Amino acid sequence: MSGSLNITSATVDPALLDLPWNLPLDTWPDSVIAALPKGISRHLVRFVHLSGYVIAIKETSSELARREYEMLRTLQKLDVPCVEPVAVITNRTDDEGSKLDSVLVTRHLKFSLPYRALYSQTLRPETATRTVDALAVLLVRLHIIGFFWGDVSLSNTLFRRDAGSFAAYLVDAETGQLYDGLSNGQRENDLEIARVNIAGELLDLAAGGRLEEGLDPVAVSNGIVAAYRTLWSELTGSESFSSSERWRINERVERLNELGFDIEELAIRTDDTGSQVRIQPKVVDAGHHQRRLLRLTGLDAQENQARRLLNDLDSYTATFNKQGDDEEMVAHEWLATVFEPVIRAIPRDLKGRLEPAEVFHQLLDHRWYLSQNENRDVPLAEAVSSYIDTVLRQRQDEATVIAPATGTITVPVDIIAEDDWRSKV
Ligand SMILES: Nc1ncnc2c1ncn2[C@@H]1O[C@H](COP(=O)(O)OP(=O)(O)OP(=O)(O)O)[C@@H](O)[C@H]1O
Ligand SMILES: [Mg+2]
Repeated sequence: MSGSLNITSATVDPALLDLPWNLPLDTWPDSVIAALPKGISRHLVRFVHLSGYVIAIKETSSELARREYEMLRTLQKLDVPCVEPVAVITNRTDDEGSKLDSVLVTRHLKFSLPYRALYSQTLRPETATRTVDALAVLLVRLHIIGFFWGDVSLSNTLFRRDAGSFAAYLVDAETGQLYDGLSNGQRENDLEIARVNIAGELLDLAAGGRLEEGLDPVAVSNGIVAAYRTLWSELTGSESFSSSERWRINERVERLNELGFDIEELAIRTDDTGSQVRIQPKVVDAGHHQRRLLRLTGLDAQENQARRLLNDLDSYTATFNKQGDDEEMVAHEWLATVFEPVIRAIPRDLKGRLEPAEVFHQLLDHRWYLSQNENRDVPLAEAVSSYIDTVLRQRQDEATVIAPATGTITVPVDIIAEDDWRSKV
């Protein structure tokens, strides 16, 4: 192998050097390849096992790899949900000295599902709506920080479960541009791209018989435009009311927090007579609950999960009359006596099936359901065993798609990208 391999990375994992960079990616041996579900792409993308985690390798030109790497790093710094860039590798040559394509290495986003895997049975209308809503939130967040995506599509997005709905992550930043702020025209442009791409992707699923009857691809793709507009005006629209209704300011702030956004600045103006108040919020990126949970417990969860966990923490605080105590101390106690015992109770073979925060959220739902049914307060410990047996054990389907930790992977053939599929037969 030529010794001139060039690796750009913030922190180089030495294990990267052991990979067969002298071979074209499509000929890499099965022993290093991780068969995980993947979206459709122009470039060759393959998943590879590294020390204890999985990386995604995309063969492309050096310019594009570098550009996307830098863009992903910037987006990460701005706290946008996106895949984590690991390295750019250029100057690859094979054993005869011929040039090989450069690569962009990103970390495989754990528990993420490309939309095709999400819809691998058939896509139910609720799932379609929830993914589209998640994508609308992502697009709004990107637009708020001034990012024009240019290639909004389901294939360029990864979805993770978030307390019954989904959180969307950007996976392909190749076409993106960061500006000081976006004009309405730029935002409309991205929306139109989203609408056309999503309709095309869903029509494609429909052609393969993978859409439930009655689900209209055009209606769903129009749905993202509608969801985006509602969210955008809720976030950025100005509002006026009489000055006797000042509580409305708080209400607006709370509503924005509920949506997962924070307010950087709230411009409040009163008219000359002082009888009318006009507010114009300037929102910043999401993560109100996420950040609070992280600060209090060190748990890194999705926004809805975080809200759910915090609700439980708050009710713990109230139940044990600890409102006056130091918030962090109480959170620590809740973590040690409520959250962690639950996660420890999950049998080994079921761990990794769902994220701990998602398990906890589902458990709370389950307990609520049991309590309703039996008309009594079901203790958490009792709900845990029932949840493990009646809910978690039944999730075989999803485990095979998500958890590659041990054993053989039995991903349904139709959702494995072609190159992985070929390497399996
Ligand atoms: N870090 C990652 N974690 C999980 N999946 C990933 C990751 N990187 C890439 N993928 C999967 O690989 C697919 C292709 O990646 P990507 O969209 O970057 O390729 P592309 O060739 O640039 O796409 P396009 O055809 O849109 O230009 C994605 O849809 C996604 O499913
Ligand atoms: Mg792509």
